[in-house]
Amino acid sequence: MGSTTPQVQIIDKSDHTKQYVVTLNDAYPLPSLEKGNIRIRSRIISVTTNTFTYARLGHVLGWWNVWPAIPSLPAPYDDSSKYGRISAWGYCEVTESQNDKIPVGTQLFGYLPIGDYPEILQVVVDDETGHILETTERRAGLMHIYNRYLPSPPGVDPLSADTRSSAAWDAVARPLAETSYLLNRHAFGWDKTKLVHPSGAPVPWTSDDASLADAVVVLFGASGKTALGLAHQLRRARPAEHQPRKVVAVGSAKSRDFTEGTGLFSDVLLYEDVSGGTSASVVAKLGIDANTKVLLANFGGRGTADQELHAAVTRVSKNVVTLMVGGDPTGNGSGFGSMPSGSVVCSASHLRDAALKLDGATAYFENSAREWSRFKEDVAAKAMKLQWGKGLQEYSQGWDALCSGSVDPTLGLVYEI
Ligand SMILES: NC(=O)c1ccc[n+]([C@@H]2O[C@H](COP(=O)([O-])OP(=O)(O)OC[C@H]3O[C@@H](n4cnc5c(N)ncnc54)[C@H](OP(=O)(O)O)[C@@H]3O)[C@@H](O)[C@H]2O)c1
Repeated sequence: MGSTTPQVQIIDKSDHTKQYVVTLNDAYPLPSLEKGNIRIRSRIISVTTNTFTYARLGHVLGWWNVWPAIPSLPAPYDDSSKYGRISAWGYCEVTESQNDKIPVGTQLFGYLPIGDYPEILQVVVDDETGHILETTERRAGLMHIYNRYLPSPPGVDPLSADTRSSAAWDAVARPLAETSYLLNRHAFGWDKTKLVHPSGAPVPWTSDDASLADAVVVLFGASGKTALGLAHQLRRARPAEHQPRKVVAVGSAKSRDFTEGTGLFSDVLLYEDVSGGTSASVVAKLGIDANTKVLLANFGGRGTADQELHAAVTRVSKNVVTLMVGGDPTGNGSGFGSMPSGSVVCSASHLRDAALKLDGATAYFENSAREWSRFKEDVAAKAMKLQWGKGLQEYSQGWDALCSGSVDPTLGLVYEI
């Protein structure tokens, strides 16, 4: 399992493109493990632009505080005002256990340290689902999705030949596709008894707000995994009479062929097609008139194309919902601080909390897992490829490549740590 001297990724808190692989020469002995706790070690982790969001918004949403300070972290990286660690989705192994319900060797899916330094989780096992819930005071303010770990069935090793690629896709896109499942079923669902505001908050959200029947849906940053998840859900997991008329992709020239090749979109446009002087003609081309319901949803699109199309669309239709799922990954374009007024913000974790109450935990996890399997079969296996790397050095190279925008959109970057 990797190097014997642990390594961790350390990020400059003011600029996530500056990251360092730091070797912990004095890591042992590890802090002792108290009763009830487990020790974990990351085995498979991914990087997508969503991972960058954890660094960019970590100061607001507590993502810098998921893991405790490492006693052996050398200077200057031990200065927590400048440097920190975030997390990535994937699989880890329980390497040590003081909890009778969680044997050593248990494999968990969840929000994991980037590196092979073994971390302590303070946990309880949820009776209904068997999931493992992190309960440390330090993580109490985190959104709940980050504190829940899903055990693999006993004896299933995610890195074994027959589960390896499925586990890799889990790491790359499962939480992203779950966001889209929640948007399709609950925020823009057709069952009036299951509606939840996209933020997950208990605020008014009517079936008119949620309706996408005969709507025009425009996804900015459409080649990303979260956006593809929504396009897939809108096309394959809604009754025909509740489907949008059009699902339109907006992205870069580089991702265009890939996005078209997924077969999920009625139109594939470039950011520049919907910006500046061309916005008004795009509105007409998409058949948007005064009566058209329009959903404009940003999934980390580049620049400000979303704001420019929003201005043109709202001049024509008054029935527009503007959804912010993610801002420009570089921080230089649209973001949570520059949304058009009246925009609604998506929060996957709060949506999931509300859905768990409405559906019941067992049904919720069964249904969302079934839809995730469909995404893997319909989209990931047909239109995308895994790019595997090994060790933290290669992880950091993948991080740099994604930061520079040079990663082919077809690829899911995944690493055996
Ligand atoms: N609010 C929530 O609860 C929630 C939940 C899940 C995800 N999200 C957010 O959704 C967004 C999408 O995440 P994702 O992981 O699905 O995306 P992703 O799969 O990493 O998106 C890939 C696409 O992003 C663009 N891209 C890649 N590198 C880039 C770079 N360096 N600079 C600018 N654009 C780049 C490319 O599209 P183009 O070349 O076509 O631009 C690429 O095809 C993120 O902001 C994430 O945080 C939010």
